[in-house]
Amino acid sequence: MAVGFTLFLLSGMLMCGLLLHKVTQHGGSKKPNFIVILADDIGWGDLDANQPDEKRNNTPHLNLMAEQGQRLTDFHSPASTCSPSRAAILTGRYGLRNGVTHNFAVSSLAGLPLSEVTLPQLLQKEGYYTAMIGKWHLGHNGPYAPTNRGFDYYLGIPYSNDMGCTDIPGYNLPQCPPCESPEPHVTRLKRSARGGCYSKVGLPLIENSSIVQQPLDLWTLTEQYKSAATRIIRSARERGQPYLLYLALAHMHVPLAPPLHSDEGRVYAASLQEMDRLVGAVKSASDHTDRDNTLIWFTGDNGPWEQKCQYAGSVGPFMGKWQTSRGGGSAKRTTWEGGHRVPTVAYWPGRIPANTSSSALLSGMDVFPTLLSLAGVTPPSDRRYDGIDATDVLLHGEQTGHEFLFHPNSGAAGEFGDLQTVRSGKHKAFYITGAAEACGGATGREQLHDPPLIFDLEVDGSEETPLDTETLEYQAVAQRMARRREELLWDIANDKSVSAADYSTDASAAPCCDPEHTVCRCDPEHTACHCDPEHTVCHTLS
Ligand SMILES: *[C@@H]1O[C@H](CO)[C@@H](O)[C@H](O)[C@H]1NC(C)=O
Ligand SMILES: *[C@@H]1O[C@H](CO)[C@@H](O)[C@H](O)[C@H]1NC(C)=O
Repeated sequence: MAVGFTLFLLSGMLMCGLLLHKVTQHGGSKKPNFIVILADDIGWGDLDANQPDEKRNNTPHLNLMAEQGQRLTDFHSPASTCSPSRAAILTGRYGLRNGVTHNFAVSSLAGLPLSEVTLPQLLQKEGYYTAMIGKWHLGHNGPYAPTNRGFDYYLGIPYSNDMGCTDIPGYNLPQCPPCESPEPHVTRLKRSARGGCYSKVGLPLIENSSIVQQPLDLWTLTEQYKSAATRIIRSARERGQPYLLYLALAHMHVPLAPPLHSDEGRVYAASLQEMDRLVGAVKSASDHTDRDNTLIWFTGDNGPWEQKCQYAGSVGPFMGKWQTSRGGGSAKRTTWEGGHRVPTVAYWPGRIPANTSSSALLSGMDVFPTLLSLAGVTPPSDRRYDGIDATDVLLHGEQTGHEFLFHPNSGAAGEFGDLQTVRSGKHKAFYITGAAEACGGATGREQLHDPPLIFDLEVDGSEETPLDTETLEYQAVAQRMARRREELLWDIANDKSVSAADYSTDASAAPCCDPEHTVCRCDPEHTACHCDPEHTVCHTLS
């Protein structure tokens, strides 16, 4: 038994190594460009193409991208909250290995452990121009900031757009108040160690390692992202340099800041349409530069934040009914399908067959090995990876993805990082259930399940009725799942490359352009520092 087990692990590692080392040849030596677009808190059902019967028209550009590319219908964010999901996407490893199991705060001192190797770092070494636009949320101080983790260029917000005040707050529940009005010449630093939209620290906009605006004007962010993204695409093309553009949108996270004069009753739809136009602009810039050599991969970081009611997205058919019928929400922060099954489209004209869809079981962790494989880059062999190279699914019609995929707890009650749920084929087993706060405030409690609850997602995507434990089907599946879960836990427990994240906080760690001013406001008297279209530097982060 012990020998067989070791052999199994070894062969698993070898296979993983082979997959990662495979170099895909594609028409000469020209390296492909990569655009990874990560939406925030978007629901599987928000993509029109995922629910054609609903006859909505919120995402025409993404629908077109799906028609010219591939829709991945069983694609999962690696976690159901922000920081762990992003850490796993950039490292190809579960949070239990990369150390990031829950969110960082405004006052976090550290971030993604420095022992972790990131996707942009590896591509940068191979001559790629690496740019990031948008929400980072993997540590904003010193060595943890994006430009020190592999990005040549960065423009964006260091964490979520509700973690800091703005002068004109967008739509949130409860509604955020505006920042305290500026009182120049009054020295009064107010820093809250707390996250959330009531943080007294103004939301900063950061370029490279400088705060260029604070508080950020949320309502012009989309335009800033759009012009930076199109500029990056065009200038990389002019230099003839392959590039990685990681665009981590503020959409669809609250506070929503849709175009002015949007119908109050349709704020979410208006924001979704705005996001879709931004994606369309990026696609168009790419199509007009290096169309046939650019892969665009659109996905989400986790499911909708149900607690935000009308400002939350749609889980589509993945309603987590077992949970909702017992109280609590079943989307973001949970391991119910609505928490991590995310709308995903891959587009690469001439390479990815047009108008196709795949139900291969895939994860955001697969972005790392897949892009490296397409670029002909081998990741360091001193660590273990959990993502798989999905090249054959994207390019060659392969329908199989992960044999087993684990969904970690990253928000609801219980230990962060706990492997609550295992997926294999059409079956999903819950060892622990737990709910996040629903619209209306219900929360549901954490519950251990021994024997586990097992759902057949093919016939019961809404996870309503678990299989009868007496059936042979249940017993066979439960045995396979339990064995695999124990193997993975053993493997992680014995993994020498596991990193530990430092989650300690200190009020002084909050990004602040000028501690002498209310809400860390860049001095309005110094016009060069505030809302300057030229982005003159206010303050350099140490
Ligand atoms: C950021 O870096 C780019 C070069 O990559 C440079 O052109 C730009 O001026 C920098 N911005 C700031 C605010 O330092
Ligand atoms: C894409 O496929 C769908 C059905 O699978 C079909 O109705 C539609 O016409 C196709 N679109 C194009 C542009 O071929």
